[in-house]
Amino acid sequence: MDQERYRPPGRRMRVLFATSELFPLAKTGGLGDVCAALPAALGTLGVEVRAILPGYISALDGARRKRTIAVLPDGGRLLLGDTPDTGLPVYLIDRPELFRRAGNPYLGPDKRDWPDNLRRFAAFSAAAATLALQGDGAGWQPDLVHANDWHTGLIMAFLALHGAPRPCGMFTIHNLAYQGNFPLQEARALGLPEALLVLEGAEFFGQLSCIKAGIRFADSITTVSPTYAGEILTPEHGAGLDGLLRARAADLTGILNGIDNISWNPAKDLDLPAPYDAEHLGGKAIDKAALRQELGLDPTAPGPLVIGVNRLTHQKMADVVADALPMLLEQGCQVALHGQGDRELEGAYVAAAAGHESCLAVRIGYQEALAHRMQAAADIALTPARFEPCGLTTMYAMRYGTLPVTRPVGGLADSVADVDTGGSWGRGPGFLFAEPTADALAAAVGRAGTMFHNQAAWRALQRRAMREDFGWARPARRYLALYRQLLSSEGRPCSQTCGRPWDDRSATLHEVEPVAA
Ligand code: ADP
Ligand code: GLC
Repeated sequence: MDQERYRPPGRRMRVLFATSELFPLAKTGGLGDVCAALPAALGTLGVEVRAILPGYISALDGARRKRTIAVLPDGGRLLLGDTPDTGLPVYLIDRPELFRRAGNPYLGPDKRDWPDNLRRFAAFSAAAATLALQGDGAGWQPDLVHANDWHTGLIMAFLALHGAPRPCGMFTIHNLAYQGNFPLQEARALGLPEALLVLEGAEFFGQLSCIKAGIRFADSITTVSPTYAGEILTPEHGAGLDGLLRARAADLTGILNGIDNISWNPAKDLDLPAPYDAEHLGGKAIDKAALRQELGLDPTAPGPLVIGVNRLTHQKMADVVADALPMLLEQGCQVALHGQGDRELEGAYVAAAAGHESCLAVRIGYQEALAHRMQAAADIALTPARFEPCGLTTMYAMRYGTLPVTRPVGGLADSVADVDTGGSWGRGPGFLFAEPTADALAAAVGRAGTMFHNQAAWRALQRRAMREDFGWARPARRYLALYRQLLSSEGRPCSQTCGRPWDDRSATLHEVEPVAA
């Protein structure tokens, strides 16, 4: 009998997926998208995944079938519900004094970090680690905890410092620039273990670094593209953690994110006035006309419609985009920008639009449905970045037949190929520029604009972009392969998880189809 295909009776591999964002319950960027779609994709591969998320108001409101599973020692409640779209089971840590706040998960109304963020995410991490180590009290305990970004880094430390037997820990870096660094006194006041507060632990230039805790203590580390995995090993992109990352390079893997092909599908997208696909692009023209009308843009302008849907930050080069706007208008482009972020950059966008309303529309804020309509309506998407761990927006654009103008850094280098150097397997066509300057960006848009007027060539490029497979099937199988490797590696403390018999575990490991590397 084919051993790899043998599926003995026994339970499935259990993974607790810890995150501070999970669309549609909470989202400030791509983290929320990935942490919704990857667990769902793993579920289709036979893994029993449950997510765990802070009990934000939006999450408490959005989760279905919520019930209280346990009362936490600190008086909070552990709830279990399902996501409204995919039915993914999700635990919510309901600590009203920490998480029931209006607005952004990380920032107060003044756009500054909530002053008690360490307390909030340490409490969340402690609750997740307790659930992992002791089970949820209702019979469910994970084999492995998959934690995401700094908000969950302390979970890896709590697990490792607990010692064996314990579940394995995987930590995914979505963005090394957000580190969760806090004064050591604050960490001491919260009673965090001393082993964390030293250089060999998670001390980082006189502070406690939550992302360092994740990197230092995880059994396995991943990040969201192969190119970024290489970049963060260098002083230029390592954000001070490149030394530690180099020391752990053997345990670091870069896996390019997928995109959710169901919610981002122009053929079935309910937010669009007219659906379309690669064979029938007619609907895209209707969507363009509708968006121009919605945003008050000239309906007859012959040039390309260029969009930007991004967080307005230094990472996304929003300052450079603002500087380039006059050049883009000069080239005959229509531009529509949507996003929010740094106040100064929001101001620069708004100021640029004044007096140019028929060719430049700016909508500060973020609405998911508008993001979809813009991706569908546009010809060109501006997705430049100074650095980009993965860059989902660029893949969404290509899926909608909107060609990206961007830089070949991080995940963008792994997902986009320049039209002139030719696409290759796994990368869609776009217009790449090297220097992070307004002139270089405008020149790349100029190249795209010239191509746009050759309708046959443009259509061919759109079709190529739309046919690229950016789905989650492939990346999810790579995560599964890593989980299996981790759970089967003997000698690690986590290989004796939770005192359950090994037989049970190996059965679990063989329950899913083998993956080709
Ligand atoms: P990042 O995660 O760095 O923001 P990605 O391109 O990977 O970049 O993912 C961005 C996701 O967040 C997309 O789904 C995009 O539509 C959405 N988005 C863009 N701007 C905002 C914003 N200001 N607030 C919330 N989500 C946003
Ligand atoms: C981060 C990164 C982005 C990535 C996303 C999801 O927000 O900035 O590049 O696509 O996480 O992994």
